[in-house]
Amino acid sequence: MRHELDPDAGWVAGLSNCPNRRASELLRQASAERILYQHLAREHAREGRASYVEIDAPLELYALARRLRPRHVVEVGVSSGVSSAYLLAALDRNGSGTLHSIDLPSFPRAGARRTASAHGSWTLPPGRTSGWAVPFELRKRWDLRLGDKQAVLPLLAEELPAIELFVYDVPHEDKATFREFLCLDPRMAAGAVAIADHGPNGGLCEALARWARKRAATPLRRTGLGLFGFRCG
Ligand SMILES: C[S@@+](CC[C@H](N)C(=O)[O-])C[C@H]1O[C@@H](n2cnc3c(N)ncnc32)[C@H](O)[C@@H]1O
Repeated sequence: MRHELDPDAGWVAGLSNCPNRRASELLRQASAERILYQHLAREHAREGRASYVEIDAPLELYALARRLRPRHVVEVGVSSGVSSAYLLAALDRNGSGTLHSIDLPSFPRAGARRTASAHGSWTLPPGRTSGWAVPFELRKRWDLRLGDKQAVLPLLAEELPAIELFVYDVPHEDKATFREFLCLDPRMAAGAVAIADHGPNGGLCEALARWARKRAATPLRRTGLGLFGFRCG
């Protein structure tokens, strides 16, 4: 697990409609969550690996959740729980809000050795389940659902009154992705923010370019990453 050294204040400011100064201040708060960072790094090391596939901009997620003060955050793709932990830490500091996370756990092949290559990029260590590195004390605001996004997202769309922040950090495929964003769309009012990862250097996929046009949201790229954000119009 790496400590993020170059968070993008302009990206947070653009997505959450606040001055750069305020975004920088929130990113400093995120960076100061040293106990959380050390806990996650220790848990990863305990399982014999320095890192699992994780979001490259956890500090920005924290800052967005602090700034937007969401009642409901939806996240797809949990793995060991780096993004979940930073979102939960922000909600904890806000004193309000729930994180609804969806993950389809992935298990190592039987007989695979306990090494990074044998485990693939996000498979679970033995005896663990999705979000295994998230500190226990942050879990009270967490609604973690294990299942396929295609089955769980429609349930959340039915259950939640509104979604102010949506984080999509899962392998995607155009048709399904567009359908899944459309499914949450009625719950995302103007000012709601969606984040989607397209891999380290990925460009914006056609599905989300189309969804962004529908929502009058200019896609904003996080500097240096394939991570795009959209502020709903
Ligand atoms: C890139 S990792 C998520 C990383 C995580 N956001 C973090 O910061 O640590 C993607 C996760 O999506 C899960 N996944 C893959 N296909 C899925 C599906 N169809 N529905 C739900 N989750 C899925 C994988 O098991 C994996 O845990």
